[in-house]
Amino acid sequence: MRRLTVLGATGSIGVSTLDVVARHPDRFEIVALSGHRQIDRLAEQCIAFAPRIAVVADADAAVVLRERLAGLVPTEVMHGVEALEMVAALPEVDTVMAAIVGAAGLRPALAAARAGKRILLANKESLVMSGDLFMREVSAHGATLLPIDSEHNAVFQCMPAKGREGVRRILLTASGGPFRRTPIADLANVTPEQACAHPNWDMGRKISVDSATMMNKGLEVIEARWLFDTPADRIDVVIHPQSIVHSMVEYVDGSVLAQMGNPDMRTPIAHALAWPERIESGVGVLDLAAAADLVFERPDLDRFPCLKLAFDALRAGAGTPAVLNAANEVAVAAFLEHRLGFRAIADVIAATLDTLPDQPSSTLDEVFAADAAAREVARRQIGARA
Ligand SMILES: NC(=O)c1ccc[n+]([C@@H]2O[C@H](COP(=O)([O-])OP(=O)(O)OC[C@H]3O[C@@H](n4cnc5c(N)ncnc54)[C@H](OP(=O)(O)O)[C@@H]3O)[C@@H](O)[C@H]2O)c1
Repeated sequence: MRRLTVLGATGSIGVSTLDVVARHPDRFEIVALSGHRQIDRLAEQCIAFAPRIAVVADADAAVVLRERLAGLVPTEVMHGVEALEMVAALPEVDTVMAAIVGAAGLRPALAAARAGKRILLANKESLVMSGDLFMREVSAHGATLLPIDSEHNAVFQCMPAKGREGVRRILLTASGGPFRRTPIADLANVTPEQACAHPNWDMGRKISVDSATMMNKGLEVIEARWLFDTPADRIDVVIHPQSIVHSMVEYVDGSVLAQMGNPDMRTPIAHALAWPERIESGVGVLDLAAAADLVFERPDLDRFPCLKLAFDALRAGAGTPAVLNAANEVAVAAFLEHRLGFRAIADVIAATLDTLPDQPSSTLDEVFAADAAAREVARRQIGARA
């Protein structure tokens, strides 16, 4: 029996995780769940899974959740970042799904690493912000890191079981998002609703915008660098609009191994939950004949400047990816609130990176200092454009 904490249970990945867990009550037990603002959804999940602990954003949200659960389940309700860190490190928990969105996910994911847990990592921002530090903690404490991003999960499945010998390149596929064919001149006027309407994947709003700008792929390149200990010049991005091939590994003998499947996050989630075994995920059978043509294209960096910014940040190293990540979070939030145009997201990130080169990132304090400085600069940039 695997005993789980699900961080970010109320989000897109969290809901898919609980869907897979509910199919296997003999294999998985939920010990703790966390949400942030969606208290109704978290209450329903607590009633369905009866976790020992539930964590919410603040004391007010905790009062509301306690009222909802009174007399129904004996779940203890806690709040705040320390509570998230605590449930990520509970002795009776062996597996932690890290599915909080953004920089807020770093501290709890790191707590799981330091407690030596099996970490199912959806929160790519943890590795973007502090890849070197995070991987050192994983290794020092004997934690196991299993990727949930469909691309990295695919790469994980295509990599040799041990070592990297014979591997030439990692090929990350990208759908190209909803604006792959939109004239570049029209991109300035796209709305958050259009950006969040992803052609293949149903995801949270922040990652949906990241997919539309292709910053998501940029963050994934940085994530792949750390997960698979592979330098930037051996990671390539290929546009594949059908999202059937989830990523590939190229070997020196010319073999290219691909992992395929329907675009449904329950496949990588089930893979990581059961690894090294395989379990039913609820995902339908892939009908390759119906999928018809599988298309592959090179990304256009004029259309997707965020992808180039991410590669540049990875090559610059140290705290620069943390600056990129924070500026992106601030710019995407402003776009979602109609305070910034779609094309301006990349401009704000570029200006923030120019203002803050060479930020140190050897300690968590330095990472958060780079993050805070970048948020401040990005906010000023957005204010100056208003
Ligand atoms: N969705 C996908 O298909 C997908 C695929 C690959 C990777 N990922 C990655 O997985 C992570 C989650 O993505 P998602 O699409 O599931 O996002 P989402 O639907 O927006 O869910 C985010 C979760 O984090 C919680 N949360 C938000 N802000 C928080 C904060 N400050 N402190 C604590 N918890 C907070 C949310 O709680 P409330 O909703 O209750 O406010 C929710 O449970 C992201 O890092 C994303 O890049 C997602």
